[in-house]
Amino acid sequence: MNIKIGTDIESVSRFENLSETFLNKCFHKSEIEYCKKHKYYAQNLCGRFCAKEAFAKAMGLPQEWHDVEILNDDKGKPIIILHGKAKEALKGAKTEVSISHCSEYATATVIIYIE
Ligand SMILES: CC(C)(COP(=O)(O)OP(=O)(O)OC[C@H]1O[C@@H](n2cnc3c(N)ncnc32)[C@H](O)[C@@H]1OP(=O)(O)O)[C@@H](O)C(=O)NCCC(=O)NCCS
Repeated sequence: MNIKIGTDIESVSRFENLSETFLNKCFHKSEIEYCKKHKYYAQNLCGRFCAKEAFAKAMGLPQEWHDVEILNDDKGKPIIILHGKAKEALKGAKTEVSISHCSEYATATVIIYIE
């Protein structure tokens, strides 16, 4: 089995006043809606951004932002839904993501398991 790992950390303040253009370029509607429903919008958004960057690091290549969608299961655990070229490239692979955030920073780690 081939295992890939990527991690990222970002300042939450960068995500406090984002333009609609940047938001829509980087995030799916589902991701924006999830963050808007939660108390610390910029922290949630920053965590999702970190997860996308961590995924790209694990892959070793820049990715299309919309190829990586971060959702949460019914317990709140984040999961990665792949689209487009990333989905094609990782057929049969499994991914894991973990996100954490506080007032100043968010961080995420992604692991990809390829049989
Ligand atoms: C859910 C929990 C992990 C969140 O931790 P926190 O310190 O409050 O917040 P963090 O910023 O570190 O993490 C928040 C992120 O955790 C992730 N998360 C939430 N529920 C999760 C779960 N059930 N499993 C994995 N990750 C989860 C989410 O990605 C969330 O960010 P998001 O809502 O933007 O997606 C925490 O409330 C909890 O239940 N901890 C368990 C306590 C415990 O068992 N301690 C160990 C004893 S040995």
